[in-house]
Amino acid sequence: MDPASPAVTTRLWHPFADMAAVSASGELVLESGEGAYVVDEEGRRYLDAAAGLWYCNVGHGRREIAEAAAAQMTRLAAYSAFGDLATRPALDLSERLSAMAPMPDARVFLTSGGSDSVDTAVKLVRRYWTEVGRPERTAIVTRTHAYHGMHLAGTSLAGIAANRLGHGDLDAAVVQVDWDDSGSLEAVLDERDDVAAFFCEPVIGAGGVYAPPPGYLREVRELCRRHDVLFVADEVITGYGRVGIMFGSERWNLRPDVVLTAKGITSGYVPLGAVLVSGRVAEPFWVDRGSPVMWRHGYTYSAHATACAAALANLDIVEREGLVERVASLQHVLGRALAPLSAYDAVSEVRAGVGLLGAVEFTPDAVGTGMPARVIAGLRERGVLTRTLASGAIQVSPSFVVSEADIAVIAAALEESLRSAGAVRASAARVDPAAPLGGSLLGNPSPGERAVAFDDRYYADQRPPHH
Ligand SMILES: Cc1ncc(COP(=O)(O)O)c(C=O)c1O
Repeated sequence: MDPASPAVTTRLWHPFADMAAVSASGELVLESGEGAYVVDEEGRRYLDAAAGLWYCNVGHGRREIAEAAAAQMTRLAAYSAFGDLATRPALDLSERLSAMAPMPDARVFLTSGGSDSVDTAVKLVRRYWTEVGRPERTAIVTRTHAYHGMHLAGTSLAGIAANRLGHGDLDAAVVQVDWDDSGSLEAVLDERDDVAAFFCEPVIGAGGVYAPPPGYLREVRELCRRHDVLFVADEVITGYGRVGIMFGSERWNLRPDVVLTAKGITSGYVPLGAVLVSGRVAEPFWVDRGSPVMWRHGYTYSAHATACAAALANLDIVEREGLVERVASLQHVLGRALAPLSAYDAVSEVRAGVGLLGAVEFTPDAVGTGMPARVIAGLRERGVLTRTLASGAIQVSPSFVVSEADIAVIAAALEESLRSAGAVRASAARVDPAAPLGGSLLGNPSPGERAVAFDDRYYADQRPPHH
């Protein structure tokens, strides 16, 4: 080793990390968790405002999921699902997901996570068009701010430019459109006839928590129908309840051709993903037309029996405890709690109010002075754990078992951390003076508040819940 290099203090190469900084300043080692909280090795308790990485929907420490996994492991931990092989949990989970899916006649292709699901979908849509005699349809359209995981396919689809950089030539058949302008998609579809699919997060997550503008999803869905382009809803974050209904596709009545899921399918207790495929897209692969089609695709752990058993136990909890309905009622609480933060000079926008999803965005000046990192450190000191997104925005996406009091704690800790990081409450000109922000964090936002417009957008586009 070069004697000038500092000693390596860990052998764990962390994802999305500056390892020189981590090695120099150390790691936060978490040891246990219960409900919406986690505890580190020093015994410090944190409110988990990110639900891990947007996945721990049912909260930490659920013995029921552990027991379901242990029971399956004792019986038969895993077996290949290649060819005609199956295990009972994989079959049961596929039936259940097909019945829940936001499109008719769904078939279920199981993966090990979101990036696997994205990769599977990119290959699937291209193979679909090959099977139906349109092999030139290979282009994939994606949106600015999009995050579709970190396999090579997902990296190619990234709408966060930094995530694509420095990896050589990526998939050239990817076209990017503006995340909030259906006209941008229309221009591409009018011009080209080689588009296989449009990949779309109903609410953009890791790219910054952006809910769709009013009418946007209806328009892009209609455009895809008109041009016979497949609509792939990436619901890795929004699926299984995070937007207050089982799938974002239901909330915006999308009837997608393909839905990508992971995270909330097991609440992260074990890795698992699922691609829900409509009958139309499945048809060329499932119907014998005289020349057999074998799709040479799949993963060692596709349909992993223990992961499927954990998913079934997780979905039991979600249903039994009415957690999706709970998200629907808490989304406004979160929106109202975060809204007052927009009064700070360092905050450019607060986005919240659709499901348990929120982001506090900083001005470029505040980002330039390192404010996001100081706020994250301040939150940790105050016992709230979360992270920054690509732009520096603070992610707020607690588990579905979070209480209203917990949400108030997150908002109060954010406000205190902003102040101690140097943010200043701006002049009254930025906020409706009729509604001073000093009151209850859970109070109603005033009509003059410029932040948290999601509620209106939601009601503009929403169908009634389907239960
Ligand atoms: C919308 C979306 N798609 C795909 C992925 C990739 O999932 P994974 O990290 O499980 O591979 C993520 C992860 O956050 C995501 O948010």
